[in-house]
Amino acid sequence: MNKLYFGDCLDVLKKLHNDYPQGFIDLVYIDPPFNSKRNYNILFESADLKDTKAQKEAFADTWSNISYKDTLDELKDLDLDLFRFLENLDIIRISKSAVAYLTTMAIRIYYIHKVLKDTGSFYLHCDPTMSHYLKIVCDLIFDNKNFRNEIIWRYRKWPSGNRQFQRNHDCILFFSKTGSNDRVFNKVDLMDRTASTLKRFGNQKIVSGYDEFGNRLPSEMKDETSEGVARDDTWDIGRVPPVKQLFPTQKPEALLSRIIRASTNEGDLVADFFCGCGTTVTAAEQLKRKWIGVDISHLAIGLIERRLKDGYGDEVRKKYEIDGLPKDLASAIQLAQGVEFGRLKFQDWVIETMIGGIHNPKKTADGGWDGYITFDYGGKKEIALIEVKSGKVNVNNMREFIHVVSKQKADLGVFVCFAKQVTKPMLLAAKEEGYYHKDDWRDKFDKIQILTVEALLNGENIRIPQTQTSTFKTAEEKDDGIDNQKLFE
Ligand SMILES: C[S@@+](CC[C@H](N)C(=O)[O-])C[C@H]1O[C@@H](n2cnc3c(N)ncnc32)[C@H](O)[C@@H]1O
Repeated sequence: MNKLYFGDCLDVLKKLHNDYPQGFIDLVYIDPPFNSKRNYNILFESADLKDTKAQKEAFADTWSNISYKDTLDELKDLDLDLFRFLENLDIIRISKSAVAYLTTMAIRIYYIHKVLKDTGSFYLHCDPTMSHYLKIVCDLIFDNKNFRNEIIWRYRKWPSGNRQFQRNHDCILFFSKTGSNDRVFNKVDLMDRTASTLKRFGNQKIVSGYDEFGNRLPSEMKDETSEGVARDDTWDIGRVPPVKQLFPTQKPEALLSRIIRASTNEGDLVADFFCGCGTTVTAAEQLKRKWIGVDISHLAIGLIERRLKDGYGDEVRKKYEIDGLPKDLASAIQLAQGVEFGRLKFQDWVIETMIGGIHNPKKTADGGWDGYITFDYGGKKEIALIEVKSGKVNVNNMREFIHVVSKQKADLGVFVCFAKQVTKPMLLAAKEEGYYHKDDWRDKFDKIQILTVEALLNGENIRIPQTQTSTFKTAEEKDDGIDNQKLFE
């Protein structure tokens, strides 16, 4: 059964390694973020909140904020060479955040190596700011004799920067777990013969055993030269145009399709541990491979589900399981109690997955607001603030929230808690705030709405005018290359 995991891939990898110590995956592709996960959600935000700039700054938490020393200690016991390499990075001119990033990646790649079959392949998608360091990390984990290719994915984007050449490529490092003769490598998407070859030999089969440069051809290529020559390691594939993007860093399906067809056969298992909006997952489904997708963001998991449904209809839901998202009251309570992922994750689940909003990057104690959702009304963005309570609440919490809604000049307020916490005084306080209502509407909507977790699990949601919410508006184009420079600041 295919599987989508919501959570940190390190937890998932450790669990999978524990369950299948011999390795069981045929192909792993990863496209990890260059910065922390949190930056991804804000890119979907289109609300015109007054403090958007401040929010964006708050979101820009870099890897330097993450305590990586514990991970480094953990690696010391797992792989001493890797530990020494990372530890010594501290003494060259590379920022702390870059070392933290590499350490964070190293432990995950260590476990990816473990969950691969001996015949398995690994593709690491990165860019030139980090690829040389990541190559060493992979050399140490996979052994450099198992390095297969550095694939250059070349694309075009809006020109930027005029004092250097445009940065128009990403790197994909390709390793095999072992040198096993049984590993799959299919020669896919052969290239056309060059003009000079065609001029010399026409379209006839080349039997000389030499290419147009006079180099001896490897024996397995001789038969193929009539169809074209083996694909090389520079790939020209267009990026997903911004208007078609579901996700700011979405990769083209053609890219994933080539990787999957080259390194697996039908029925094999493909995994992506940073799967974003699920390009690997949908390409694998299309190519009749089994798949595993993991992402730490609820938003990503929601998008993948939508993408699979749009592509393969309702039936596809029977072909995969989701791990990590509460589906019933008991698991919602567990999440709220921080059993699995911590209390703030409960808020994210309510706000992003269940309501479809954006969480407030400034995590505040009581007296603030936890998230918001926007909706269009007459060309204007209207805002509903969301407050989520995982534990005990009383009428004072409700009054505080009412005060915040009024101070922020929000159009609506939604207070979420478990049903057994709702009291009569709370209902009364909410009712006293009246309606969100425009003169040309027949309908009225409570200005302060109490939404229980139970109701959310039953498919109910915030009551707003029936226009499409705008929170998930298509993300804008972003120049990754420039951003990654920040790692060295
Ligand atoms: C560059 S995007 C991947 C885009 C993807 N290739 C696609 O085509 O949509 C990186 C993803 O990694 C996720 N992520 C970040 N840290 C993670 C972690 N520790 N575990 C799992 N996913 C993580 C982010 O939420 C984001 O969706």
